[in-house]
Formats: sequence, C-alpha cells, structure tokens
Amino acid sequence: MLIDTYGRVATDLRVSLTDRCNLRCTYCMPEEGLQWLAKPDLLTDDEIVRLVGIAVTSLGVEEVRFTGGEPLLRPGLPGIVARVAALEPRPQTSLTTNGIGLGRIARALKDAGLDRVNVSLDTLRPDVFKALTRRDRHKDVLEGLRAAREAGLTPVKVNTVLMPGLNADEAPDLLAWAIEHGYELRFIEQMPLDAQHGWKREGMVTAGDILAALRTRFALAPEGAEERGSAPAERWIVDGGPHTVGVIASVTRPFCSACDRTRLTADGQVRTCLFAREETDLRAALRSEAPDEEIARLWRQAMWGKKAGAGLDDPSFVQPDRPMSAIGG
Ligand code: 5AD
Ligand code: SF4
Repeated sequence: MLIDTYGRVATDLRVSLTDRCNLRCTYCMPEEGLQWLAKPDLLTDDEIVRLVGIAVTSLGVEEVRFTGGEPLLRPGLPGIVARVAALEPRPQTSLTTNGIGLGRIARALKDAGLDRVNVSLDTLRPDVFKALTRRDRHKDVLEGLRAAREAGLTPVKVNTVLMPGLNADEAPDLLAWAIEHGYELRFIEQMPLDAQHGWKREGMVTAGDILAALRTRFALAPEGAEERGSAPAERWIVDGGPHTVGVIASVTRPFCSACDRTRLTADGQVRTCLFAREETDLRAALRSEAPDEEIARLWRQAMWGKKAGAGLDDPSFVQPDRPMSAIGG
C-alpha cells in the first residue's frame, strides 16, 4: 500500500502523459508556451505501463487517471489505455482533457477500455473562450464533449475555472447548460499553479462566490458527507435532484486530510501532492534496470514523506517550481 504518516492511503494515481498543450489558458501558461520536456526525458509507453503496473499490482492503486498538459497529444494514448485496462486487478481508468480532438478519438478510447472523461470548459461564449485559452477552438470542445457522451465515456464531467472579468458571471448559465446536455459540472477554484506566478488570493473567485451566484437561479442542497469520501468536489443537489453540481474548493476549503492521490509526471517523477516541492525519480531507477520491488520501495518511501496539507491559505506558502501543465491536473 501507499500509506503516509497521517494514515492516508493513496489508491488514485494521476499520470501525466505530456507537458505540452494546444491551448494557452491564461491561468495555466503564457501565450508563448513553455520550455517543453525533451523527448528523451519523457517516459516511453513501455515505461509508463511498467510503472502503472507496479502501482496497480503491488501498491494498491485502484484508479488511474491520465492527464497532461493535454493527454490527447500523446500519440500512443489508446495503446497505453488498453494496456493499463488489461492489468489485473483492472483499475478504473479516466482522462482529463481539454476536449480538442476528442471528437475523433472518443470511440477508440472507449474501445481501448477507458471508463470516463473530464473535459475542461470554462465558458459558453466562443469569444470568451478565445480570450481565456488564446485559441479559437470552442466548437471543437463542444464536439468533443458530445462525442464522449455518445461513446459512453460517462458520466462526462466538465471542469470549469472562473476568472474575474472573463467568465465569472457564467456560473448559472453553465449549470443550466450542463444539466440540459447531461454533463456533470464541477467548478474548480483557481490555484497558484500557473507558470507565470500570476495567481493572487484576492483575485480569485471563491467557492462561496460560486455558490452564491448559483443560488440566484437554483436551489442547492448539500449531498451527504458519506458520498464525498475522498473526492475533492463537494457536491450539491440541484433543485431537488437528480442533477448535481460540484465545487472543488482547493484554496478556501482544502481536502488534504482525505487525499488519496499519488502523481507521476511525464518524466517519471513521483509527486505526493500538486503542491509538493520534492519529487522522487522513478525514471532513473527504471533506466538503471531496478527490479519492480525496488521501484515499489522508492514509491512507498516517497509517499511516506507526504505532507499533511498544501498550505495554500498559509502566508508562508511557496508555489511549486513546476506549473500545473507539467504536473498533471
Ligand atoms: N487552477 C485551477 N484549475 C486549473 N486547471 C489548470 N490550471 C489550473 C489552476 N491554476 C484546471 C484545468 C483543467 C484541470 C486539469 O485543471 O482547467 O480542468
Ligand atoms: Fe492546456 Fe489545460 Fe493548461 Fe489550458 S489548463 S493550457 S488546456 S494544460
């Protein structure tokens, strides 16, 4: 098991498949992009499958989520999904994507064994989408969402980050739209993970703001604590049900004490937290021909060092060196 000194057990593995992206969301990266990882530094498909295999067969990981950057940019994605879905015991598999290209590949991913997708969409307005992501691809995301639903990658979840002055007024419209189309909407508070270090506590839309805005149009009742478990989203039942809306209050209501995550970067580093400042190099172990037991031992040791919390609201908080796109969402 991947247990830490606070008794938390990591059963949910997030694997970043690339740090590259075809969007440039303002809360994530600068217009010109970033210095991407060099190809030889990235784990190969075989290396990814080997590490995930160790996590699933020896370390108790039950759920594997593929992230990026934008994971659909990884050429071997369907093959990786198929090999991970063939592991014993079979893990749950999911993907966090910006949805561009999903229209073409949703069916193949489903056939490869992918269970679910989370698609990021922050706005219903094409012009706002262009301002937020610096790319004119709103239509492609809507197509991707539809394809995911039709392929049965359900429940299709939509992740939304609200930014003041851009899309902060869209919360009720987004919820009405998500309900109409059968997507499960979740708002994520903006976190200090942008490459430009532009995040400001004062400048963010909080969970409190979001709930207040939603309540101008919908009745929200909290879902019981039992349902939440280790899920980061607090869910609310909309207008008596059956639809729900989630709010991930990473900053104002952190959920670190229930965290069940472990993370692997595209270059083979274990991170115990999005906000961790240390990493453990599994790629070096892999490439020096360490046996599975040694890699499992390094992974366990890394998790044993997991901190109690991210400390976002603490004045002494220091943003990690790697931006979100290089860690995985
Ligand atoms: N704060 C909150 N969410 C973020 N995402 C990317 N950067 C940030 C940030 N700084 C979101 C994306 C996507 C998911 C992977 O994380 O919009 O939905
Ligand atoms: Fe790409 Fe996601 Fe970053 Fe937007 S938030 S630029 S979609 S990695």
